[in-house]
Amino acid sequence: MLLPDTYAVNARGHAEVGGCDLVDLAAEFGTPLYVYDEATLRNRLREYRDSLARLYPGESLVLYAAKAFYGLAMARLVADEGCGLDVVSGGELFLAARAGFPLDRVHFPGNNKSAAEVEAAAAHGIGALVVDSVHEMQLLRALDGGARVRAMLRVSPGVKPDTHSFISTGQLDSKFGFPIETGQALATLQELLAVPQADVVGVHCHIGSQVFDLSAYPAAVERVLDLLVEARQASGFVARELSVGGGLGIAYTDVDDPPRPVDFVRVVAGAVAEGCRQRGLELPRLLVEPGRSVAGPAGVALYTVGATKEIPGVRTYVSVDGGMGDNIRPKLYGATYQALKAAAPDAAPETTVTIAGKYCESTDILVRDARLPRVAAGDVLAIPASGAYQLTMASTYNYNPRPAAVMVGGGEAHLIRRRETYDDLLLTEA
Ligand code: LLP
Repeated sequence: MLLPDTYAVNARGHAEVGGCDLVDLAAEFGTPLYVYDEATLRNRLREYRDSLARLYPGESLVLYAAKAFYGLAMARLVADEGCGLDVVSGGELFLAARAGFPLDRVHFPGNNKSAAEVEAAAAHGIGALVVDSVHEMQLLRALDGGARVRAMLRVSPGVKPDTHSFISTGQLDSKFGFPIETGQALATLQELLAVPQADVVGVHCHIGSQVFDLSAYPAAVERVLDLLVEARQASGFVARELSVGGGLGIAYTDVDDPPRPVDFVRVVAGAVAEGCRQRGLELPRLLVEPGRSVAGPAGVALYTVGATKEIPGVRTYVSVDGGMGDNIRPKLYGATYQALKAAAPDAAPETTVTIAGKYCESTDILVRDARLPRVAAGDVLAIPASGAYQLTMASTYNYNPRPAAVMVGGGEAHLIRRRETYDDLLLTEA
């Protein structure tokens, strides 16, 4: 589960993905390089889509969370799989439009949308604007007469999943969503229903990310359905759509054992179907918004080893040509990864080293205490589970250009993002 579905060790003893030798990819495209396995991306979307169709008695739609990994190729792949998109900025919406994505399958959450973003959502006729503030309702009211935007209300169910506090959103103390327990969710839903520009189709919640213990989902669903019962009593409101967000975790190292997308769907679909039955609520169209669990396992980051520093009795640092500029997650969330030597993935580990990045910060460490065969300058290291929240969070810190990305499948690699150049770094100079 750590490596992409098409991972194999080839006749040369090298690691390959999508039929492409990782050592050869590094030589052809340079490093750092993000390698995306098309088969894994499609398999994961299909697992969500098909298990929803099988396990949920009503209609459903998978909205892939663009923030995990995005670009024209990814947007087109998601459209091709019959899924929708969850975008969180005018920029992500702009790219969807450029990719020719069916915009009625685009949902747009976000706690502080600008007037321009609300106007763009209206102009594009998107699937739903996920309203997350009173300010946003004012922006909706300010739209030209006649404009009508499908809208959902983002609610906060007061459930905290078992994940890093930095990526937990469902709890009461959060910048996202109108809290159910304070009564603000119900009151704001009534207000939103009175906004002429809003066609209110339902409610939305998202409790957090990198979640392994699925029990937080039924807990959140129960609270949201109770809110819908209150809303029905208060104003006859019937939710046509319900989004339970994303959040399913993935394995970053061999010790991680996350549930599969089908497990997530079984728990969520069961909770919504059964909860609606018990309350006599009509089954809403069920939306899920996975990001990491689609893109994460599909991506492998490749780096080339440069300097090695051995401090006898203390630690050996092996430095690579990327780091916190393309993967901020270890530094930001204390995330752990593991690495393999692309030319000898099955070789027995002989040494324990710390894989450091090239950025001017002591905390720029990608993998602490990695167990590896001997590595030397020029060797290619591969870090699995690198597909989500790395490239999309990449920076040009220290004026290091951002990496290239390729999509692989059937023995072919297509460049989907060229490597940034020094000239690119000057593009925004005024
Ligand atoms: N829907 C909403 C409203 C979200 O805020 C998010 C993620 C998702 C869906 C997708 O969640 P996923 O299935 O990917 O867990 N940068 C962090 C993760 C931040 C997640 C933000 N919201 C990381 O690298 O771990």
